Amino acid sequence: MKTIFEKISTDEKENTRIFDTASEILNRGGLVAFPTETVYGLGGNGLDKDASAKIYAAKGRPSDNPLILHIADTGALKELCSEIPETAYKLAEKFWPGPLTMIMQKKEIVPYATTGGLETVAVRMPDNKTALELIRRSGVYIAAPSANLSGRPSPTKADHVRQDMDGRIDMIIDGGDGDIGIESTIIDLTDAVPTILRPGYITREMLEAVIGPVEIDKAVALGRQSDAPPKAPGMKYRHYAPKGDMVIVEGRGTEEVIRTINRLAELSRAKGLKTGILATDETQDRYKADYVISVGNRNSEISVSKHLFDVLRRFDDLGVEYIVSESFSRENIGYAIMNRLLKAAGGKIINTDESEALR
Ligand code: TXA
Ligand code: MG
Repeated sequence: MKTIFEKISTDEKENTRIFDTASEILNRGGLVAFPTETVYGLGGNGLDKDASAKIYAAKGRPSDNPLILHIADTGALKELCSEIPETAYKLAEKFWPGPLTMIMQKKEIVPYATTGGLETVAVRMPDNKTALELIRRSGVYIAAPSANLSGRPSPTKADHVRQDMDGRIDMIIDGGDGDIGIESTIIDLTDAVPTILRPGYITREMLEAVIGPVEIDKAVALGRQSDAPPKAPGMKYRHYAPKGDMVIVEGRGTEEVIRTINRLAELSRAKGLKTGILATDETQDRYKADYVISVGNRNSEISVSKHLFDVLRRFDDLGVEYIVSESFSRENIGYAIMNRLLKAAGGKIINTDESEALR
């Protein structure tokens, strides 16, 4: 399949032509990758089971892993969900458009092919002009997982999508880089107590300020390998993983952390492995490895989340076989950053205060 590439610009006439082409593709059951404020989505008509099947095929993703439906106005909830708790409207009012996905009981109109056989559906209104325009102009509720091949880090740049999807989908719309860089927070509203299934930019505290107590799913709780089955089926698959092996180093003393990271890098290089260090602006000059890449500035958590997946992909491109990463405070969005880092590292983290591998 030949993939069409288009870039959104300030030329409105040109943009109209791009949206017309994309709408036509979506309405005939084809696939269009588009930008959101989190990561790029791989979109198809979420009410068309054949389109959903194509999404799974393009991603190489197991079809029991449900998709998120993207909407452009809150009124769509009534069409897609059979039970809409008051909390949903409160959260929509406060956080939509934005990086929050809500799970509710689905209506019949939503095919099981889209929900991975579940009776519930995930819905979100993205905070991105191109995404909203595409949903509105096409008149389609767009089912979209992240536009990466299954198992690879999520795409935050159009070029990441091109690497993974060229030749596999009909069209890629370049609308610039995702500002947040990690996927939306997912909250399940079908439980007695609303439950976070995937942490993101919208934190537990932010949600609790609007709707009261919120739980975090056991299988997601940070730094712990739980036996509880994951409620968001996607969380059970290997995710965000770079090709190289990865380990995170944490500890109270910055100097001890830097020393440990350098020592691990040295050992790895002594074994002949191409070695990378995931550093920050503040520390990158202190390291020695084949590649030292700063993920962002410690004073700005959002700079870290924005660049995280890109840095993991760059290590892949460079053929890095072993990655040693700094760790981050688990406060605020740091919680979601550590969630993604731990997944990338397969849970491997070393604490210099205890100076032994915890997991
Ligand atoms: O930021 C995002 O959410 C991005 C952009 C493109 O919107 N999308 C995204 O989609 O991250 P995806 O498919 O990569 O992740 C969706 C997650 C999966 O872990 C899936 O299991 C979970 O949402 N999910 C979807 N529907 C669900 C449902 N009905 N019940 C439980 N989990 C669900
Ligand atoms: Mg994904």
